[in-house]
Amino acid sequence: MLTYSKPEGTLVSSKPFVDTTLTVWIAAVTAAIYPWILDAFHWSVTPPVATIQLARLSAGTSLVAGLLLIAAFAVPLINLLIASRPHQTSTPTAQNVRARRFALFAVTAPTVYVFFGVLTYMAGSKIPDTWIWTPAWLVFGYLASRSTNAVIAHHPRTSSHLRVAHGVAGSIVAVFVLFHIFNHLFGLISPEAHAAVMDIGRTVYRAKIIEPLLVLVMLFQIFSGLRLVWTWSETSADRYRMFQIATGVFMSVFILGHMNSVFIFARTWLDIPTDWAFAAGLPTGLIHDAWNIRLLPHYALGVFFVLAHLASGLRVVMLAHDAKMSTANRFWWSGVLLSAVVSAAIMCGMTGLKLV
Ligand code: HEM
Repeated sequence: MLTYSKPEGTLVSSKPFVDTTLTVWIAAVTAAIYPWILDAFHWSVTPPVATIQLARLSAGTSLVAGLLLIAAFAVPLINLLIASRPHQTSTPTAQNVRARRFALFAVTAPTVYVFFGVLTYMAGSKIPDTWIWTPAWLVFGYLASRSTNAVIAHHPRTSSHLRVAHGVAGSIVAVFVLFHIFNHLFGLISPEAHAAVMDIGRTVYRAKIIEPLLVLVMLFQIFSGLRLVWTWSETSADRYRMFQIATGVFMSVFILGHMNSVFIFARTWLDIPTDWAFAAGLPTGLIHDAWNIRLLPHYALGVFFVLAHLASGLRVVMLAHDAKMSTANRFWWSGVLLSAVVSAAIMCGMTGLKLV
């Protein structure tokens, strides 16, 4: 049973908070094995077929590949679920909070793995990413699981000014993000259609004054969002709020890594255009390349989480304007469903499906 308490959106559960050591180890182990799941998926669809379509694989191979892909997406999902379990009391221990923050960090595994891979590639590392990644997560898990019984002494409060600033800046960012996502839907028609829409958008968002401002606002969203997350993660926030927090944490890393890929890696380091071929990992594509496969959950979750994060923000605004809880929740569920459909449609286009 859940009972609401102050501050708004927080609750206390009569269900015990999942054991904190177990939380940390679930997070550490699932994140540690994440790249191996992707590797297994890659092996299951190798050797590549001439046309990049799973439908051309045998039914057995498709089933195994499908299950492995589900397992890859299950990693952030499991961590999202354990991070959003309410604290048992309104005064959680430092260990409870640390476990939750660690699970939140593990939600970001698919996007951290891309960011990490780009950085090791740029550094010219010859060591396979998995050899560093897996031990690193296990070491982090060990460090985070070491017990401390200190009680969080203060009553965390999120700054209302920061919340408003994050919301206002978020609505500016949303204009770009919604266009950018709309643009990627044109991949379902053709790379040319995608490029034509991008060319129109570029006249605005790549204008000399706008582009640095866009980057600045993005950076503001990342750091203001992480500040809010830090405080919220100490409270017993409800599952809607925790979903908003977890998607925000994911987006912080996604945006930072994505801007590094676009501005530093592609445009500066490789000196290549950031076009459809760059985004879709051509010529090999996203599915049949051992490295590119990591882009699939990264992009899919990036689109899904950013849209769902916006829906979560709008739900909070609706509640603040006295909307009925049931109406706000219905709006949220519809938003999340639509986000999943848009994300799936974009990924179909990026992996070769064409509607015309
Ligand atoms: C399927 C998912 C995505 C793909 C394939 C993708 C791909 C790209 C590409 C190709 C560019 C270069 C655009 C250009 O050269 O004009 C770009 C830029 C950018 N993307 Fe994404 N993106 C995705 C999702 C997102 C999301 C969810 C966000 C934000 C929350 C985002 C934020 C940005 C930003 C800030 C830029 C820099 C814009 C600029 O060039 O000034 N992207 N992305």
